[in-house]
Amino acid sequence: MTTLQRAEAAEHALSQELDRVVVKSVIFTSGERDPRQPVTRPPDNGRLYMMGHDPRLPQMPDKPTLFDFFRYRFGPSAHLLQSARLAMKNGVGEKVVLACLLHDIAIAGFIRSDHGYWSAQLLEPYVDEEVAWGIRYHQALRFFPDESVGYNYPELYLKLFGTDYVPEPHIQEAYRYARDHKWYMTSRLITVNDLYSFDPNVKVELEEFTDVVGRHFRQPKEGLGFDQSPSAHMWRTINWPTRYL
Ligand SMILES: [Fe+2]
Ligand SMILES: [Fe+2]
Repeated sequence: MTTLQRAEAAEHALSQELDRVVVKSVIFTSGERDPRQPVTRPPDNGRLYMMGHDPRLPQMPDKPTLFDFFRYRFGPSAHLLQSARLAMKNGVGEKVVLACLLHDIAIAGFIRSDHGYWSAQLLEPYVDEEVAWGIRYHQALRFFPDESVGYNYPELYLKLFGTDYVPEPHIQEAYRYARDHKWYMTSRLITVNDLYSFDPNVKVELEEFTDVVGRHFRQPKEGLGFDQSPSAHMWRTINWPTRYL
């Protein structure tokens, strides 16, 4: 048995314990398996397919807030919390503090690749346009130094991507566009406060940012995911990642 086959067998065993059959989205497994290959499914034995809450996950409130997503669906968020605290300490405006708190939420809870774009898209209906813009472009700006604010190419990137990694043309193009934009510094300040090594001993609580979020994040009354905004479906997918449709 290959590692993948073992993982699939374990998944199947787990799925057998559930009332509903769970079928993973292609993007959850693409790479681990060749997405062009047909999926052979074990018999469902007459069970219904997953169409809502997955009992392996903590139940979200009916009208989930941003903080509920942090608590129940995101991975550890020390990086975001410590970056936001640093931004606050550095005396940047509240909008930049909010941007720092949310800049990597796609990594925390959705899709890692192209995380700046996914994060911005998730947030766009609920934050100032400038905040979403800054978050979108921090991804490209991270690769380019700006001595005027003391920002260097991250040492960590040398370790992660190798010393000869060169950002692809579309990233260079995004950088050039952002460099000349009126909101450049908003995005740049995210990179300046973006801690790439956080202190495991420093504990920052989400509640520290209740007021900033309250003032600058337009929490929909129906709950994130149920408000018909252009990104509501993305929040629903984070809430119910294993729905069949
Ligand atoms: Fe990032
Ligand atoms: Fe970050």
